[in-house]
Amino acid sequence: MKRRSRNILLTLLTILIVIQFVPIPKTNPPVTGEIQAPEPVKAVLQRSCYDCHSNRTVWPWYSKVAPVSWLLYRDVTQGRKAMNLTEWQEMTALRQNRRRKGVWTEVSGGDMPPWFYRPLHPSGKLSDADKAILKAWSDAGPAIPRQKAESRRQKAEVVLGSLTAAAHRSQDKVENRN
Ligand code: HEC
Repeated sequence: MKRRSRNILLTLLTILIVIQFVPIPKTNPPVTGEIQAPEPVKAVLQRSCYDCHSNRTVWPWYSKVAPVSWLLYRDVTQGRKAMNLTEWQEMTALRQNRRRKGVWTEVSGGDMPPWFYRPLHPSGKLSDADKAILKAWSDAGPAIPRQKAESRRQKAEVVLGSLTAAAHRSQDKVENRN
């Protein structure tokens, strides 16, 4: 029995060592820009969100240790894909505004920064003042529903136009038959 548990331990240790050699591309792509926002907003985002939402990730020491490194790599990759604050100007104005609203949705819901990030990065914790800054910034963006309504109206006009044309055509047909 003793021998068996020693074998299990050795196997686990071997696995742990072997997985350290699985290469993961922990890179920071070139920083091509910066979130365009007032300084206080920028400061909060840089402090609490940049590790996963920018090309300026600060990789901690435990990001070198598998399997933790795999989890971190996945978070940063997905985080950058969802919103990259150092590629902000590459988004359309509408998308930027969506993200701006999304930031407050995530923060007010307590979803961002993620729960597991907070104990490891006490400096990334959002104070009430930080939250108020993000909320004000988000609220100051143009309202999205209005833009949605506008594009719905445009679509409706196009549909209406083609329906009218079709109605005319069928009316012509009826008239031709008479
Ligand atoms: C530890 C990494 C990490 C940190 C730090 C982090 N995020 Fe995220 N964030 C993610 C990941 C991963 C996703 C994509 C998956 C998801 O939606 O959960 C994401 C998604 C998002 C989205 C898009 C949600 C959607 O559904 O479109 C927003 C907005 C966001 N985060 C805002 C923030 C803000 C604001 C901060 C800082 C206050 C922050 N995040 C900090 C990892 C992080």
